[in-house]
Amino acid sequence: MSNTLTPVRIGRYTIPNRLVMAPMTRSRASDDGVVGDLTVTYYAQRATAGLIISEGVFPSALGKGYVHTPGIETAEQVAAWKKVTDAVHARGGRIFMQMMHSGRISHPALLNGATPVAPSAIPPAGQAWTSAGQVDFVTPRALSTEEVAGVIDEYRQATRRAIEAGFDGVELHGASGYLPEQFLSSGSNQRQDQYGGSVENRARFMLDTLDAMIAEAGADRVGLKISPEMNYNSITDADPQQTYRHLVEQLRGKGLAYLHVALFGTQTDYHGMLRPLFGGTYLIGSGLTQQSAEAILAEGKAEATVFGAAFLANPDLPERFRQDAALNQPDRSTFFAPPTAQGYIDYPALDTAEVA
Ligand SMILES: Cc1cc2nc3c(=O)[nH]c(=O)nc-3n(C[C@H](O)[C@H](O)[C@H](O)COP(=O)(O)O)c2cc1C
Repeated sequence: MSNTLTPVRIGRYTIPNRLVMAPMTRSRASDDGVVGDLTVTYYAQRATAGLIISEGVFPSALGKGYVHTPGIETAEQVAAWKKVTDAVHARGGRIFMQMMHSGRISHPALLNGATPVAPSAIPPAGQAWTSAGQVDFVTPRALSTEEVAGVIDEYRQATRRAIEAGFDGVELHGASGYLPEQFLSSGSNQRQDQYGGSVENRARFMLDTLDAMIAEAGADRVGLKISPEMNYNSITDADPQQTYRHLVEQLRGKGLAYLHVALFGTQTDYHGMLRPLFGGTYLIGSGLTQQSAEAILAEGKAEATVFGAAFLANPDLPERFRQDAALNQPDRSTFFAPPTAQGYIDYPALDTAEVA
């Protein structure tokens, strides 16, 4: 008896299986952040996922962090996404948009010469991906308190546009060291105002942003992704357990559609700690197999499971699980690429594999 292939309620929706497609940046959009026909096909091919979470999408131009990533700011971007949501819905699927503001994980070459923004002027180590290849990160500019309110309002406006573009909901990217986690974490936030200092203040940006998104979409269409102790993009925190405990306690009353927790290599049992604190629909992702997902659900550790690379390489992942079929292996060399079909829409489904 399979647990992954049974329906479950997520916010406003009853989804037909518990296999959620993880948000995955694929860098196939135009220089203007507009998705094209390949992206329509890519998501439509994966419409049998219980729920698709889109790749990270910048709510405003200053939030862009990688070359060829898409936005949801201009009318052209909205119209292009509408084709994606129409195609997913035509095949019976559901899709949320992931809102991703990269903050300091960017570069002037991606921002028409502007300096990336962050809670504090602390540069991350490493390099940005630009059209001129990889270049060292720069020292970001600290947002003023008034500007922080403006950025939060950009998430609100982007949420309205995502709903207008036909998305079934939105996910705040609070993971992987991007802007919300830069505010949350003590190593990247040395602010003196109400958005820095105490854990209450550092969590405020994420909580206020969620409230702004909820104001447009309703709490039952808003999710949050976090990745405690992932330590990616130079994120550090003096006391991550206290930080995440506080954050998730504050989420409890909001009635979010879900909390999506992806753990990478930490020894701490964050799932055991955060799930009871949250009290709502809990999604576990990262490094799962069919077997481990079945076990997670059988043990009642989550309501649904999230798959990244496996969905990237297997457009019909639920059907493959149903049949116990072999899986296509993901090709890392085409994860991020200029707008090409290769490694994007050419992974075969079972029926086409048989024909081939
Ligand atoms: C190509 C690729 C792009 C990704 N881009 C994003 C992204 O835009 N936003 C995000 O939250 N996570 C992103 N991730 C992380 C995935 O959402 C997921 O957490 C991770 O792949 C672990 O799940 P998996 O082991 O099932 O692949 C990306 C992962 C991959 C493989």
